[in-house]
Amino acid sequence: MPTDTIYKKLILENFKKPRNVGQIPNPDALSKKVNLSCGDRIEVFLKINNGVISDLKYRIDGCAISVASISILSDQIIGKKIEEVLKISKEGVMKNIGLEDGSGREKCSTIGFEALIEALSDYIQDH
Ligand code: FES
Repeated sequence: MPTDTIYKKLILENFKKPRNVGQIPNPDALSKKVNLSCGDRIEVFLKINNGVISDLKYRIDGCAISVASISILSDQIIGKKIEEVLKISKEGVMKNIGLEDGSGREKCSTIGFEALIEALSDYIQDH
């Protein structure tokens, strides 16, 4: 199967059945982001224990790429230390779904990642 077909399938599967959707009551960190060019929005909630992200949930009103991207990312980071998550690059997040810089979908594919990093930065500042 051609690589772009594999990624299209991956995006579609995660869009139809996004993983870790929801809300965390009393989260340790949270952040909201809006893609100003389309109005799509995401809210990310984190539970953090001893420097480890023990849970991540999100609510999203977005396109297939934005939903698939945070769905895949959420599975990758639950159980990881904050320091490890901070090493993840925007390019790495885009690669998860077969995109590169200059594809024109940077904002869609990284809106969830940006919300996550903002939530973590706020958390680090407060602790
Ligand atoms: Fe709005 Fe993709 S079109 S986030």
